[in-house]
Amino acid sequence: MREFVIYARKAATSSDFPLNDLPGRGGRMDLVARCVCNALWLSHDLRRDTCVHIVACGGPEPPKVITFYGSSLRGVSPDERSIASWIKKASKGRNPGIRVRRQSFQELISELAAKGRFFYILHEKGKDIEGVELSEDAVFVLGDHLGLPAKEEGFVTRFPHEKISLGRISYLSSQCITIINYILDRYHGR
Ligand SMILES: C[S@@+](CC[C@H](N)C(=O)[O-])C[C@H]1O[C@@H](n2cnc3c(N)ncnc32)[C@H](O)[C@@H]1O
Repeated sequence: MREFVIYARKAATSSDFPLNDLPGRGGRMDLVARCVCNALWLSHDLRRDTCVHIVACGGPEPPKVITFYGSSLRGVSPDERSIASWIKKASKGRNPGIRVRRQSFQELISELAAKGRFFYILHEKGKDIEGVELSEDAVFVLGDHLGLPAKEEGFVTRFPHEKISLGRISYLSSQCITIINYILDRYHGR
C-alpha cells in the first residue's frame, strides 16, 4: 500500500476556514488539497491502494491528522475547493473515506512504524532516486512549502527509512507526489 504523509505547518485545524481563501485563512489548504488530489486521483478513478495523511499544524487546535483513504472515499471531486470542503465536513464525520483526529506528526509516525512500515523521506539532498530500488509498500514523507522541520525529519530517521531525492530542483510537494506515483506505476506495476 502507498501512503503519503504531508507535514502542513499552517493548515487550519478547525472547520471554519473560508473556501474562498484557502491559501490565506485556510493556512495553505490549497497546497493540502493539491497533495490529496495528486496522491489519490486518476482520470475517472481513484487509487484504491493509497492513502494520504495531512498533519495540520495551524490554528486553532493543532495538531490534527486528516487522512483520505482511496479505498473508501465517496462523492469527492478532485478540485481544490471540493477537497477543502470535505475536510471541513469530515470534522463532523460525513465521509467514510476521510478521518480527522487529534494526533501529532510524531504520534502518526510512531503508529505507522509500529505496523512495520518503511519510510522514504523526500528531500532535495537525499540519495538520488535513480539509484534506489523503490518499494511501493511504503510511507513517503514530505514537507510543505517551508520543508519538513529538522526535528520531525530526525524523528522519522529513528525508524527504518531512506532519504531520497528527485534531483536538485525543489518541486512543489504535490508535484513530488505525482512523480513518485508515476515512477511506481511505470516501473513497479499497478
Ligand atoms: C517546496 S519543497 C520545500 C522547500 C523548502 N524551501 C525546503 O528547503 O525544504 C516541499 C517538499 O517537497 C519535497 N521536495 C521538493 N523537491 C524535492 C526534490 N527535488 N527531491 C525530493 N523531495 C523534494 C520535500 O519533501 C520538501 O519538503
